[in-house]
Amino acid sequence: MCGIVGYVGREQAAPILLDGLEHLEYRGYDSAGVAVLGPTRGLQMKKAKGRLKVLSAMVDGGRTMEGCLGIGHTRWATHGQPNDVNSHPHLSQDERIAVVHNGIIENYVEIKEFLISQGIRFQSETDTEVVAQLLGFYYKETGDLMGSVYRVLHRIEGAYALGILCADVPDAFVAARKDAPLLLGYGEGCSFVASDVTAIIKHTRDVSYMEDGEVAVVRADGIRVFNAMGQPIEKEHSFIDWDVSAAEKGGYPHFMFKEILEQPEAVRKTVSPRLRNGEICFEELSLTDEQIRAYKRLFIVACGSSYHVGMVGKYNLERLLRIPVDVMLASEFRYADPLVDQDTLVIVISQSGETLDTMAALRQARALGGRILSIVNVVGSSIAREADDVLYTWAGPEIAVATTKAYSTQLVLLDMLGLYFARIRGSVTEEESERILEGLRALPEMMERVLQEKEEIQYLASRYFNHDSVFYIGRNLDYALGLESSLKLKEISYIHSEAYASGELKHGTISLIEPGTLVVALGTYTPLFEKTLSNIVEVQARGADVVALTTESRRDDMRKTVPNVLTVPDTHVILEPSLGIIPMQLFAYYVALQRGCDIDKPRNLAKSVTVE
Ligand code: G6P
Repeated sequence: MCGIVGYVGREQAAPILLDGLEHLEYRGYDSAGVAVLGPTRGLQMKKAKGRLKVLSAMVDGGRTMEGCLGIGHTRWATHGQPNDVNSHPHLSQDERIAVVHNGIIENYVEIKEFLISQGIRFQSETDTEVVAQLLGFYYKETGDLMGSVYRVLHRIEGAYALGILCADVPDAFVAARKDAPLLLGYGEGCSFVASDVTAIIKHTRDVSYMEDGEVAVVRADGIRVFNAMGQPIEKEHSFIDWDVSAAEKGGYPHFMFKEILEQPEAVRKTVSPRLRNGEICFEELSLTDEQIRAYKRLFIVACGSSYHVGMVGKYNLERLLRIPVDVMLASEFRYADPLVDQDTLVIVISQSGETLDTMAALRQARALGGRILSIVNVVGSSIAREADDVLYTWAGPEIAVATTKAYSTQLVLLDMLGLYFARIRGSVTEEESERILEGLRALPEMMERVLQEKEEIQYLASRYFNHDSVFYIGRNLDYALGLESSLKLKEISYIHSEAYASGELKHGTISLIEPGTLVVALGTYTPLFEKTLSNIVEVQARGADVVALTTESRRDDMRKTVPNVLTVPDTHVILEPSLGIIPMQLFAYYVALQRGCDIDKPRNLAKSVTVE
């Protein structure tokens, strides 16, 4: 989704901004722009629809723009089509102020009407332009930039991360935040602002995270931060210890492929430090054993693939804990008047830690008295900071829009959490617990074995890549696995696909099965293997082509019914989805590759969804 980067220092700003924006490309965007302020040419702005390379070519890699101070933006359209005019930055009428914005200004119509009545002419269809125009309007009245910024912030409603450049302030830009991520970077003789640390990590690892209501004045020799009342505040600094190469493609054709291959290592990093002397240790949890024993109900709230982790979690946690586990999409939860109280633990799952609906659900759950435990990948992100407890997945930076390694690490961490709680609550036998622990220890190596089957999956993808419609069917954990498998395929290959609980198929969807329809039958949940076989036969009877996935021990049984069988090693049944997802990710990847799709940046999608 939209990205912001700002720079002030001794070097020319435009090339640095373009490079920063390039590192934000992975978030998904449809246009880009930069504004730079220079001593000779004043405020210069360039923006263009399409890929960043279009903008970069327009300004010769930044060389045609002059100035050591600037802001840049990648836009993911919400209000108004993706085109040159709607791209950011937006200018005030007198072209003295430039603004970039992430988020949505909810009351923009009312402000726009007011400004039009005052003789302001708008150029774009965006909500963002009202910020630039309103700021220009107030500034013209008073000549006080900071006073005008605060007036604007009091008047606008919604979510925003803002970068503001004023032609009359040659040595600083202003940043402000509410409900959209923004961080400040402290360099040697230079300073930065960015919506995502990847944009600036090659310049500095010394950052601080802006909080809601804060406003920053960013200069080369330092950054001053003020609270919502305009009082100066001291910010806590954080050090980013990411390996920069983890965010580079490193010779692989796509980030998604690289990240699929990184899964054994990511899972190892997430699991190993928390397994000690045959015990699960969550030192970072502040929940007491007494609290863990007292919960009567769990909620899992998330969006997209993180929600699908929750779907697996429902089956596994109910099995291990014997208490109700409700899984809800964050966008539904926040408006559903959910039944959360002090006896409820709400587990919030988010790779980015910035998804707006998930954040809103977290706040809603907290207001209802629930305690929040988050599972997050991005350290220091908003959800991580607002939750009562955070368990980090150690997947490292994930760049491809379609998540793979973050999903896998979330899944394994949720399983571990379930087992940890179950041991404390005494709801799992020692023997079962041992078998799961053994499975967890062996998981990375088993994932490596699955990855060795790449060629077979590639072959199947080459046979089926031109299908228009695919169904994923399965029962229990395989149904939850099907949801994520289907999402992967549709996200990156644009093939229509649906996941169905096999038993539900005959209540409607089976009418869509016709000769040649591809059905991916998931049969890794061995307790219901025979039922799955019956469902496979039903779709075959209607002419479907079936590709089946099962465990090595059931391969021969499956082959009697289906010629195309993929397998994963046998492990404890609750861990099978962690293996089963890998061939499904690879299948989606190879299908998209055959179809010539833009795998890492699929159309219309964003990595981190910071609007409702
Ligand atoms: C976007 C991404 C998905 C992700 C979802 C939730 O739609 O494209 O891959 O699953 O957001 O994101 P989160 O960061 O909260 O896990």
